[in-house]
Amino acid sequence: MDLRAIGIFDSGFGGISVLRDIAKVMPNENLIYYGDSANAPYGTKPIETIMSLSENCANFLLARDVKAIVIACNTATSVVISILRQKYPTTPIIGIEPALKPAVLWREHDKVAVMATPATLALPKFQELMKHYSKESDIYPIPCPGLADYVENGILDGEEITAFIRDLLAPALEHNIDAIVLGCTHYAFVERVIQRIAGPDVKIFNGAHGTALELQRRLRISELLTPSSSKGTVEFISSNPDPNIIRLCHQLFNA
Ligand code: DGL
Repeated sequence: MDLRAIGIFDSGFGGISVLRDIAKVMPNENLIYYGDSANAPYGTKPIETIMSLSENCANFLLARDVKAIVIACNTATSVVISILRQKYPTTPIIGIEPALKPAVLWREHDKVAVMATPATLALPKFQELMKHYSKESDIYPIPCPGLADYVENGILDGEEITAFIRDLLAPALEHNIDAIVLGCTHYAFVERVIQRIAGPDVKIFNGAHGTALELQRRLRISELLTPSSSKGTVEFISSNPDPNIIRLCHQLFNA
């Protein structure tokens, strides 16, 4: 039993979509969210840069004496999770990856599009996942450079982002896809736009809830859940000193 906070990080606002699920699943835990908005986006940067930025985020949280770390970013998870686990073997470190498994198992031989950053889709972690499931489904990876930037700029709906997403999805929609996996935590905040473009028959999958449950399971096994029955706290920290950033963090958390 451990009263210390859980540290959660992302390249910016995206991981707040995971934080929301963590707060719902474990309302008594204290949570510290670190968004690296000064350096977002990660998904179009070279791997070495993503690696050192992600390590900086983890080190920042460890300096705050967190009891566990959640990498609430598919891109950072793909690059850095095994390095961090090796470096900090006694700290539970949980990551997120595109929720391809539930999407593939949903219907027999369905057609699944995966929206994610160019880095996530190019890295071995996703390539192996895709190889594994491509026997059961047709999988269409959709690299979405620029989409996380809309979310970082607080643009979550409207004509411009609708046209942008429509262009991204057009080739996959021609294949009459059945499902879309949101393989970047930022995209949860524009799910409504994606659903509107794809139509009501296309099911959208998101790994946030599964990640929150996995975190709870790991904390229980390690006997790190909080013994407190009072409501936990949520603290937002950003590498971008603009005071509007923290205001937007609260807005997205409560959306
Ligand atoms: N939120 C991050 C993810 O889940 C990526 C956004 C970015 O490119 O920084 O992949």
